[in-house]
Amino acid sequence: MDAKAAKERISELIEQINRHNHLYYVESRSEISDFDFDQLLNELIQLEAAHPELADENSPSKRVGGDITKKFETVKHQYPMLSLSNSYSKEEIIEWEQRLKKSIGGKIQYVCELKYDGVAIGIQYENGVFKRAVTRGDGTQGEDVSNNVKTIRTIPLMLQGDYPPQFEIRGEIFFPLSAFHALNAQREKDGEPLFANPRNTASGTLKLQDSTIVAQRGLDCFLYGIYGDDLPMDGHFQSVQKAKEWGFKVPMPAHRYIALVEDIAGIMDFINYWDTARNQLPFEIDGVVIKVNDYGQQQDLGFTAKSPRWAIAYKFQTERVSSKLESVTYQVGRTGAITPVANLTPVALGGTTVKRASLHNADQIEKLDLHLEDVVYIEKGGEIIPKIVGVATEFRQNEALRIQFIANCPECNTLLKRYEGEAQHYCPNEKGCPPQITGKISHFISRKAMDIDGLGSETIEQLFKAGLVKNVADIYDLKGEEVLKLDRMGEKSVENMLNGIAASKAVPFERVLFALGIRYVGETVARKIAQGVKSMQYLMTASYDELIAIDEVGEKIAISVQAFFTDQDNCEIVQRLMAHGLQMETIEEEKAGDQLLGKSIVVSGVFSSFSRDELKKIIVSHGGKNVSSISNKTDFLIAGDKMGPAKLEKANNLGVQILSEEEFITMMGL
Ligand code: IVH
Repeated sequence: MDAKAAKERISELIEQINRHNHLYYVESRSEISDFDFDQLLNELIQLEAAHPELADENSPSKRVGGDITKKFETVKHQYPMLSLSNSYSKEEIIEWEQRLKKSIGGKIQYVCELKYDGVAIGIQYENGVFKRAVTRGDGTQGEDVSNNVKTIRTIPLMLQGDYPPQFEIRGEIFFPLSAFHALNAQREKDGEPLFANPRNTASGTLKLQDSTIVAQRGLDCFLYGIYGDDLPMDGHFQSVQKAKEWGFKVPMPAHRYIALVEDIAGIMDFINYWDTARNQLPFEIDGVVIKVNDYGQQQDLGFTAKSPRWAIAYKFQTERVSSKLESVTYQVGRTGAITPVANLTPVALGGTTVKRASLHNADQIEKLDLHLEDVVYIEKGGEIIPKIVGVATEFRQNEALRIQFIANCPECNTLLKRYEGEAQHYCPNEKGCPPQITGKISHFISRKAMDIDGLGSETIEQLFKAGLVKNVADIYDLKGEEVLKLDRMGEKSVENMLNGIAASKAVPFERVLFALGIRYVGETVARKIAQGVKSMQYLMTASYDELIAIDEVGEKIAISVQAFFTDQDNCEIVQRLMAHGLQMETIEEEKAGDQLLGKSIVVSGVFSSFSRDELKKIIVSHGGKNVSSISNKTDFLIAGDKMGPAKLEKANNLGVQILSEEEFITMMGL
């Protein structure tokens, strides 16, 4: 395709994709299948890759991320981002409304809205095109998080209708509960620490450097205010309706997310409705906001130093219920950390039934002076795992037993230890305590570590119980016929598992290092160490001074790394992993790019410019993942000569995009 034809096709595709995106994400309906949509998007991505000079920075292909923001630029707000004055009682709302009536006389209409519990954002548009998205910051200046905000599907990159040439729209970016729970479920599966609540996670996600991860997280946004000179609207309610016409996702009166009311009775109806209905919402709110509708009246009322006089937030009380403490049990993590858990008589709280609450550590139990059968108060307060916030000691029986933190491990009976300066107790029996052993293996196979397809934590438990796997190196000695003998193991699942294990041998050194689960060596530190030492061989004998010379490695990490490699068993395991062919050195191409981040790719057939192994290395070095068999999760099939027809047919049936060697080379700019 020549440049002219490509340009035309690109703008055609952009228009079509934007329209379908809007229908799907904002209007919740669609005119084409997911498959057809993906075809359009893939065509656009390929055309843009082949003609980089034609790629538009507001192309819908940006929705999948790819841009990395090294440092978020500070930007001064054109209109300061103020906060709302808060009230916690209906009396305060009544007083506020009376004050307004006194100060401006005449009829006042109010807009009632939800107070979304997320992160405020200001998005500037120029001539109908997304220009920049800035966080609230200190209210005067915030950070430019445009690359990340562009991945949020409900935020239009190009507007439609009669929009003003220049304006800023403000709203709240939030984590829909379903996306938040799905993220945490995946993290649990991968043995990663869970995120505490949707709001903080939304805020953290918005500040990630890699927009591809942001794109996958499923953030959403509601808009609640338009700022600009000479806006053609008279009031707030009308503005919100206008914003809808331009393509924004705005709260809808039909859902009762927004209401135009005439008086205090209307305000109270809105508050009372949402005080109970909020538990059924698919996102979190922490109150409602009431605003004077008319822009002229808003101007007359003006601002205090911090907030507008024409708006007020009514915050809901944090819901608190009581229940009975039935027992305290203790969980052992992969590092041996002991977490006490309160088991409660089931009680309804915030739309779910609560049976357990975290007690964090021994100090927390002490502070609450917990006794068995105590009546305890529980709050959710934004946290997903409920908290015990107090005890109703008046109900305590004289003979009630005080909760004593355990002295021995509940799993292996070893005497627990508490290290200086740490709140947590630990079971020091690292090599003999079953949940620590299986926890370490589960960490090893998890997505961010060796990412072994076809093997999960449950199978690890099963393999451990059967005596087939006692440490991470044993995984590579597994024999199909032994595994087949276990319960619920079919030929196909065993084959997938063995393929997944074999494919993990291509995982780069830095992730192998992270997978070992050395204390304090998380993903980032593992990357820095890998870059610093270049090989496992070198790391195993590195001196303390050599270690602390590495970026991000301090005393604590250096000691931990040395302790790990002083242990004979650990060294033996690492030697066995080396012998099995895992990557134990950095490869220069490792940092080639991340165009393929998150993509599952099958390579099949014979190639002319590269060997199959070379292609696989290119994939891994650009953040992609090699998989051996085609499934509906496969993103691309790179098809060489002499590829089996069955594979090709399967890829076609599943709608997997098929690339020739040439197309792959063009796409990657090799
Ligand atoms: S209006 C001048 N409307 O609450 C203030 N804010 O404390 C304009 N928020 O930073 C804000 N939902 O992050 C407004 N429907 C809503 C809101 C809302 C949530 C947040 C926003 C703001 C904070 C104010």
